[in-house]
Amino acid sequence: MDLKSKVSGIMPQVHELRWQIHRYPELSLQEKQTAALVERELMEIGLTPCRVTDTGVVAVLSGGRPGKTIALRADMDALPLQEKTGSKYCSQVDGVMHACGHDVHTAILLGVARLLTSIRENLAGNVKFIFQPAEENNPTGGAKPMIDAGVLDNPQVDAILALHVWPDLPVGSIGVRQGAMMAASDRVFLTVEGQNSHGSAPHQGVDAIVAAAHVITALQTVVSRNVNPLEAAVLSFGTIKGGNRYNIIANQVELEGTCRTLNPAIRQLMENRLAALAPQVAAGLGAKCEGRYVHGYPALINSDQGYELLRQAGEETVGKEGVIIPPYSGMGAEDFAFFLEKVPGGFFWLGCTKPGDPVIPLHNPEFLPAEECLAVGIEVLVRAVMNYLTLSQ
Ligand code: NI
Repeated sequence: MDLKSKVSGIMPQVHELRWQIHRYPELSLQEKQTAALVERELMEIGLTPCRVTDTGVVAVLSGGRPGKTIALRADMDALPLQEKTGSKYCSQVDGVMHACGHDVHTAILLGVARLLTSIRENLAGNVKFIFQPAEENNPTGGAKPMIDAGVLDNPQVDAILALHVWPDLPVGSIGVRQGAMMAASDRVFLTVEGQNSHGSAPHQGVDAIVAAAHVITALQTVVSRNVNPLEAAVLSFGTIKGGNRYNIIANQVELEGTCRTLNPAIRQLMENRLAALAPQVAAGLGAKCEGRYVHGYPALINSDQGYELLRQAGEETVGKEGVIIPPYSGMGAEDFAFFLEKVPGGFFWLGCTKPGDPVIPLHNPEFLPAEECLAVGIEVLVRAVMNYLTLSQ
């Protein structure tokens, strides 16, 4: 039996699982029912799941012959949104929904586990299935706590793969690129301190609002003047709060923003320049500026081997024309990046919009991936694992 028919054979079960997970979405670190469902399914397949962190589930499949260990990771958490898809398996939990497709990721990985277990005798090495909580919980996330708890050890993981449904790509295609796929996402907190005075007598105080305006403008020059124009960096302030009354010179302004980068060296440059420039601009105006730069998820960077493995498995699944090499990385963040900091591997985008349908973005209450994407995701991962565990003998 060829692989495509094997995948078709398990799809009814996979869709059932996906609908079940979609109906009962759980927020980050509350994935109790989902983790229990994953455990039940893994046991039914014949694997022995264990918990790594409270709601993280892991199982190892040993092939017929010894070899390397490849890990596959799916995230399981949902978002605080009221679903508006009108699907037959709509969320039954008020105000919580799988609006980022993690239900699809979890069901795909369960399908992959079922299929690979049925052909375990042909595998030379091990497959570690990692079901991760709290991907949406930036900056802590769920990947780093699992890594700290030893999920990459015993057996030690040699390579790791994951996917994310991607509405910008049509169903039946995948997107994968060399190097950075997703951005580092850091948070910037600034407090500008001045001194109150009457609005009619600004010379008697230090205007924190005017100082903050200069700080904001000056910080934009870090992107435009300090970062190599061929590198990516985004600095956006999303909140600014200051002042108490229209005719009082404000003594304090608080700013909060996000900094996105694709290259660890540029990330460091942004952090260093923000820390150096903001206090000096404020000082030049007689104010003070203190800041905190909080690291979120790092940039997600595919290793050359991980990229090659996914590209090849993708071509075997959807043909050369179905494998899209996106010209740009995503500037969103993914905590799978923490795994790729420790182990070489790859991450790909799974096309999930039907041709002709409107593109509904991730984290939108109407987001609902086309169901045909699940079989594609399963086949790509199964082929990548089979190729890796043959190659690495
Ligand atoms: Ni997501």
